[in-house]
Amino acid sequence: MEVIIADNYDEMSKISAEFIAAEIRRKHDLTLGLATGDTPLGMYRELVNLHKREGLDFSKITTFNLDEYVGLDPLHKNSYNYFMNENIFKHVNINQSKVFVPQGNTNDPEIFCEWYENKINDAGGIDLQILGIGRNGHIAFNEPGSSFASRTRVKALYKETIEDNSRFFNSQDDVPRFAISMGIGTILDAKKILLIANGIKKADVCAKFIEGPVTSMITASALQLHSNVTVVLDKDAASQLTRTEYYDWIRNNKHLVQKMIGS
Ligand code: GLP
Repeated sequence: MEVIIADNYDEMSKISAEFIAAEIRRKHDLTLGLATGDTPLGMYRELVNLHKREGLDFSKITTFNLDEYVGLDPLHKNSYNYFMNENIFKHVNINQSKVFVPQGNTNDPEIFCEWYENKINDAGGIDLQILGIGRNGHIAFNEPGSSFASRTRVKALYKETIEDNSRFFNSQDDVPRFAISMGIGTILDAKKILLIANGIKKADVCAKFIEGPVTSMITASALQLHSNVTVVLDKDAASQLTRTEYYDWIRNNKHLVQKMIGS
């Protein structure tokens, strides 16, 4: 796992947007897994800037979102589908027929989840998966205790997740209790993973998932089992890591590392 400590939120957003842009330039028909939440907002703004300023081309990529609330219509203003349209899709030249967000108002979630997994397979699997992290260590809506082998399915949300996400709704009672979420197994199948986190509220959980033991009670710790994960944190989110000198050294001496591995 490579850990990059950015000076602040803006730098975290720029580094992560550049990371994605480099992958899109390298493979024009990239399959990209996408996340919602406050954390990626700056990264999406940077990607829109790269499209407008430098013509970063989204027309051939396919996207799969991690999750969606059960019961919300895709046009509901609190749906993740709406979030994605507002914050990135409608500002870039993406092909809407290659955009997939779980359908929260499906009549048959079980069949839908199976269909979603098949769609990911049909697209050749996810090349790069973007993740945020919840305060309880969840990735997507894989709440504590989720199986590391899990696939896309319906998950009940933890109390703290409902509290955290209530800021987007009129009241806590309006927050859906269930979500469709890619599983940990689905996420670990991605070829590359980029997790971003910022703010002091995420410091404790970042130290736990990066430096602590692998446990289903912090589902992000499953990323320790993946061979190609990059984590970009701002200084606050990194403040409880114990090996920061090491991470800083790697960041400042990348040329030495590259020379050593001959790349
Ligand atoms: C939700 C999403 C996660 C996201 C998390 C953190 O629970 N399902 O994918 O990572 O929120 O959100 P934020 O970035 O707003 O802290």
